[in-house]
Amino acid sequence: MSARRFLRRSLVTACVATSVAVATTITGSALASAADPIADRYGNLVAGGVTATNVSAHLRALQAIAARNGGNRSLGTTGYLQSLDYVEGKLRAAGYMPTRQEFTATQFEERSHSLSAGGAAIESEVLAYSGATPSVTAPVTEVPASDATPGCEASDFGAATRGSIVVVERGVCAFGDKAGNAKKAGAKALVIVNNEDGSIQGTLGEDAGDPIPVLGVARAQGSQVRQAGSLTLAVDASTTRVKSWNLMAETHFGSSDSVVMLGAHLDSVPEGPGINDNGSGSASVLQTAITMTAVAPVRNKVRFAFWGAEEEGLIGSTHYVTSLPASQQAKIKRYLNFDMLGSHNGGYFVYDGDGSSKLPDSYAGPAGSGTIEAVFTRFLTGRGVQPEVSGFDGRSDYDAFAQAGIASGGIDSGADKVKTPAQAAKWGGTAGEIFDQNYHTAQDTYANVNQKVLGNLAPAVAYAAGYFAIN
Ligand code: PHE
Ligand code: ZN
Ligand code: ZN
Repeated sequence: MSARRFLRRSLVTACVATSVAVATTITGSALASAADPIADRYGNLVAGGVTATNVSAHLRALQAIAARNGGNRSLGTTGYLQSLDYVEGKLRAAGYMPTRQEFTATQFEERSHSLSAGGAAIESEVLAYSGATPSVTAPVTEVPASDATPGCEASDFGAATRGSIVVVERGVCAFGDKAGNAKKAGAKALVIVNNEDGSIQGTLGEDAGDPIPVLGVARAQGSQVRQAGSLTLAVDASTTRVKSWNLMAETHFGSSDSVVMLGAHLDSVPEGPGINDNGSGSASVLQTAITMTAVAPVRNKVRFAFWGAEEEGLIGSTHYVTSLPASQQAKIKRYLNFDMLGSHNGGYFVYDGDGSSKLPDSYAGPAGSGTIEAVFTRFLTGRGVQPEVSGFDGRSDYDAFAQAGIASGGIDSGADKVKTPAQAAKWGGTAGEIFDQNYHTAQDTYANVNQKVLGNLAPAVAYAAGYFAIN
């Protein structure tokens, strides 16, 4: 460390030391291993105030809210509104001045659907935001499976498309593009054949407009639908516009020209109370915010966000980022995301900020994301946990930030991937089962939160907040 750099840091040292009673002894090795020793010290100070125990008090409150409100806390429900009230009340009591950011979300609800050929039922999935139709039978047309960009160009759909149910392969362009092209060509409905194993869990995007009905089928059903002379399908679903809110709060201290943001989605899926997904991230960010008021001041402003409508397609966080002027975006130096920190059969994952692990279907974070990865990794390793990387696959609220070029990072304990024997050996839990068996179900309850996993990851939230409040 150069002398000048040390001088700059020592000013911060003085600042931190006078404002808090520094109880921790900084060991030589901790100093040596931390990239920024003052930030490390501050991070540890905040981490000391965030435990599985105090985070769990918030989890029980969220569980009780779900129980009083039909078992969930999803977009457009009283359960979500009461979750907002709860977090807002705790932030206010801690001295913050929280604000709500309103947005409109497009909500898709599917009630039933069917697909058949000559009376034989074919298993299928409705893509989110699909159009609806009573039972309709129509001749099949197809975009050849050999098309390199299947259904991505208007010219893929010939004159015979009009009035037909058109079959197209998945891939290359968005589902919504294929659906739009098929509609323009006059198709009655679209069936998309998967290009990999399993069913298609896809979305046309909330801005799909007024699309035709769109079903997905597994690759195994591909030849059956292509070779059917005609198909019969029905979709009972609706798309409605609902108001929702993000909840924001920020530290009074710290420069608003250099902001570190922590975010967690506060909504659950309609199927359950969402205590791991994502009460765990929300409660950890909330407890971090509460703790930080006791150990202020900070150098950078810390902004806490509780996102709405993540489960409907990252709607709240996307609204926040895209409605923020570029000049304000530029002041956000880092975004830290927390989604699922107490998975029942959980593990320890740090987002692969620098993209060095080349995980499938994942992108490298913007410049600076590698630093965030390193800070989480060092903290967890220091606790005796050996983390692995998870990819930026676009499945949580960091996505809009990363797309906007903001350095991003975060941690999670795993969702619907299967734990390997090697992972079970080092982390415990059950190999061959997914990380959270309760993922998106009514069983995502307080009782099913893994307290040991939460006990390691919640302090990591706090540590990173403290670290990047200084660094
Ligand atoms: N964001 C996903 C959800 O809320 C879960 C998830 C978390 C997936 C972290 C991958 C990594 O359902
Ligand atoms: Zn989630
Ligand atoms: Zn979820």
